Amino acid sequence: MDLPIFHLDWLNNRFLIGIIAVLHVFINHPLAVGGIAFVSTLEWWGRRTGDARWDKLAYRIMTTFFVITTTIGAMTGVGIWFSAGLVNPIAIGSLIRVFYWGWFTEWIVFVTEVVLILIYYLTWKSWTAQGDAKKRSHIRLGFGLAAASWLTMVLIVAILGFMMDTGTWLRDKSFFSAFLNPAYLPQLSFRTPVAMMMAGGAGLFLVVFFTRGDREFRMKAVRAIALWQLCWSPFAFLGATWYANIIPSTMIANLSVANTTQHFAEWFSIVKQLVLYVTLGGMVLAAWAVIRPQWYPRAMYFVPFIGFLFLLGHFERVREFIRKPFAIGNYLYSNGIRAQDYPLLQKEGMLKHLTYISAREITPENQVRVGKELFMAACSRCHTINGINNISSNLEAMYGKSKTWETDVVANYFVAMHKTRTFMPPFPGNDDERKAIASYLVWLQTNRDEAEPAQSSGVTIPKTEQQPGMAQQR
Ligand code: HEC
Repeated sequence: MDLPIFHLDWLNNRFLIGIIAVLHVFINHPLAVGGIAFVSTLEWWGRRTGDARWDKLAYRIMTTFFVITTTIGAMTGVGIWFSAGLVNPIAIGSLIRVFYWGWFTEWIVFVTEVVLILIYYLTWKSWTAQGDAKKRSHIRLGFGLAAASWLTMVLIVAILGFMMDTGTWLRDKSFFSAFLNPAYLPQLSFRTPVAMMMAGGAGLFLVVFFTRGDREFRMKAVRAIALWQLCWSPFAFLGATWYANIIPSTMIANLSVANTTQHFAEWFSIVKQLVLYVTLGGMVLAAWAVIRPQWYPRAMYFVPFIGFLFLLGHFERVREFIRKPFAIGNYLYSNGIRAQDYPLLQKEGMLKHLTYISAREITPENQVRVGKELFMAACSRCHTINGINNISSNLEAMYGKSKTWETDVVANYFVAMHKTRTFMPPFPGNDDERKAIASYLVWLQTNRDEAEPAQSSGVTIPKTEQQPGMAQQR
């Protein structure tokens, strides 16, 4: 919180990270982590059966995976940390300190993966032409690359798990208890088979384009891919069960809002059923393709992949939401304030401790302006002024549009906001600051305002604290 505030008012900061992260996962799971293992297996199968059509299919699928993963895939991967670093620098800073060597290793593994993927793809044709021994080396290289791609997941999932549940790290602060947090292995054992199954879904999607004019081979390919998916499905089921069982109960309480939004929370059961039907539907389709590939309808080549995207996107959204109000479980709230700093801030007030604020005292004249700055510090990681999840519409939903909102009523709401809405952090300031934010929000009912984020308006600090000769930045 105590850094200049980057803020996208129209889109909402969480949305920015969400879009980039979900796009990345859509590419990374099916096309990289699962994709390379899938393509190497196809290549291996081609050599084993001596049917060159497998090799050709594998190569064409690899071409697609290669182009997408090395462009949008790599960029969105970096983009996640870049956007998260802008939106919640304190959270990313904490994660870097805790996972320093993990991240360092990740960097090496990632570079290895990129180098190997280049070699694997670019040598495919020439090594294949050089005879069987070279082909075998190429297949081995493929499996090596698959291992490296999976290792990136092994490392990153540790960080994702840690953000949900910090486990014993809060007590011992050791790297290994952070790494082996309670959510880690369950999540990894869920994501791995899901990535493999998704790779099959992407493969099935591409088979339509890459087996034109050879119906006999298409049937073989469809059956093989569906078999691949079915083989991974029990592992996905076990992983999902394990993962569902370790989610802390406080997070389960957020599920209904996490699945949709508060407004649509009553749809929760429909969404739950949808998830179930899509999963079952996928299994039925795969079984159909194995038993009767010749009757497998053409439209169904695309449906499983789209179904997988729906499920995975949903999974990521829910995972991101249920850990609220924390960015890092029980340690750091989503607003960038450490849980352990709360007692001090609530007693002495945020104004005393924030650097980027224009005043240290609240007066009747500056109340609305300071209220806005406090709102930006305490609420803007999740709320906007005019955009998605904007605070005026939240208040309208509670107090009505036509009725005049009252400062005291709004200020009182903040006292227990974290109890009625368990996904919100407790109010981090003192009583005067509650009233200042409330007076700003009430002022918003009759006035229009714009956010003034640091990236466009610069920062303000109280005059008394400026270095001599240093002009105030605006
Ligand atoms: C961790 C993210 C987060 C933070 C930080 C946060 N909120 Fe919220 N708040 C939400 C979400 C999510 C909703 C529900 C939106 C929905 O689904 O309708 C919400 C809803 C609300 C509502 C409407 C409640 C209702 O019952 O309908 C109010 C009022 C509100 N927030 C005020 C604030 C204020 C003021 C702050 C800062 C002191 C704040 N929030 C901080 C996430 C947050």
